Amino acid sequence: MTQDKLKKIVGCAALEYIKPDMVVGVGTGSTVAYFIDRLATKKHLIKGAVSSSVASTDKLISLAIPIIDSKDLDGVDIYIDGANEFNPDLMMIKGGGAALTREKVIAAMAKQFIAIADKSKQVDILGEFPLPVEVIPMARSYVSRQLVKLGGMPEYRQNVVTDNGNVILDIYNLKILNPIALENKINAIAGVVTVGLFANRAADIILLATLDGVKKLTAKA
Ligand code: A5P
Repeated sequence: MTQDKLKKIVGCAALEYIKPDMVVGVGTGSTVAYFIDRLATKKHLIKGAVSSSVASTDKLISLAIPIIDSKDLDGVDIYIDGANEFNPDLMMIKGGGAALTREKVIAAMAKQFIAIADKSKQVDILGEFPLPVEVIPMARSYVSRQLVKLGGMPEYRQNVVTDNGNVILDIYNLKILNPIALENKINAIAGVVTVGLFANRAADIILLATLDGVKKLTAKA
């Protein structure tokens, strides 16, 4: 089975968690795109969707799924998003699609956070996927130097401007043994908007597409 087919299967599986009158947070990426297609079948049941990117907003609009501005909400019932990597504690690296900051805001607002992923995203130790950091443009060189001091090899992501008007540094060469500590350290660097480590707010559930079907993972106590 192709990876794309697995993404489709798990994107569809997430629909089961969407109940009437929910405000649904919607992530970004190719796996979530399949979820959005399925969400359209429940668009008359939900209160609306809160989007994490311009790309997802465009897709929601094209399917006439009602959109709610996050500024008008106290919280979100459920948040469905993809991941670039996740570990056994359901902590993740996200931001391959440059939408990490808005994704993190919606994750923070969400009562329940369900990540949808295929087997290729599952790791024991985070860090093989380059860790994205959203940075305000004038701080790019300063932040890069601080990231080198932390043991990483930051690379400027060419020709990418985030939906918030910022740039992305991708950090290579990391073996993230303490994700919470690293998330806090990087977020504390002046000029960083946010790092794509989702450790303080990990997923509650990961729906994992495998060749044997969709598995539901929860963090080990
Ligand atoms: C977007 O910025 C990311 O956090 C995505 O959630 C992540 O890149 C997953 O994307 P795919 O579903 O396309 O693999």
